[in-house]
Amino acid sequence: MIFDTHAHYDDDAFDADREELLNSMEAGGVGTIVNVCASVDGLDKTIGLMEKYPFIYGAIGVHPDDADKMTEETLDRVRMLSRHDKAVAIGEIGLDYYWHKEKEEHLVQQEMFRAQMDIAREEKLPFMIHSREAAEDTLNIVREYMKGGMYGGIIHCFSYSREIAREYLNMGLYLGIGGVVTFMNARKLKEVVEYAPMEQIVLETDSPYLAPVPYRGKRNSSLNLPHVVNTIAQLKGITPEEVIDITEKNARKLLNI
Ligand code: NI
Repeated sequence: MIFDTHAHYDDDAFDADREELLNSMEAGGVGTIVNVCASVDGLDKTIGLMEKYPFIYGAIGVHPDDADKMTEETLDRVRMLSRHDKAVAIGEIGLDYYWHKEKEEHLVQQEMFRAQMDIAREEKLPFMIHSREAAEDTLNIVREYMKGGMYGGIIHCFSYSREIAREYLNMGLYLGIGGVVTFMNARKLKEVVEYAPMEQIVLETDSPYLAPVPYRGKRNSSLNLPHVVNTIAQLKGITPEEVIDITEKNARKLLNI
């Protein structure tokens, strides 16, 4: 069944029908979902979803957008919550220079990114990386950590070139592929998907964001993943069933589920 490695069902966008929607996942062919913390406030909400739904696991961490809101206490909470039975990764963590242009902000993001990579290493968990307009700094930090020994990871919503993809793939990391691959103007990402071995691709939605064509711009959910699956199948010349099967195995292996 479909394995969505990256969704945000704690988001307000699901307040009106969260339960009904999540209860329809199995019938829609979606077997497993990782709810990924993005904000400081999202930590408790993610734990709540993990405890309520057997098929929901959690990634614990704080997004670079919230780096300036983080304290030592936040890091302690991330570490403590990452020891939950159903916590399978540290994320989403990383760098976002698209929304944050100031050098000072970049330094704070880097500090919190490193602090959470330390937690991933110490707690023996894979990481989930958000990186936007920060290709070089992200690659340098990930490379440095991988040299020191890590437990694998996913580059979520991969948005860079094939050359950068190759660097991550050579380190044994996975690329998270979602709705963007279905966009008409996603030539660069389609090239990356053609190039990457199927064994290093995982499916993701980033729900409620990044809905695939034909729902682009609308609220996304894991139920839309068949559109992403079909695009990947076409690019790789394999069947949709094979895409679902291989990406599920990849996710289970990385996340130890
Ligand atoms: Ni996300």
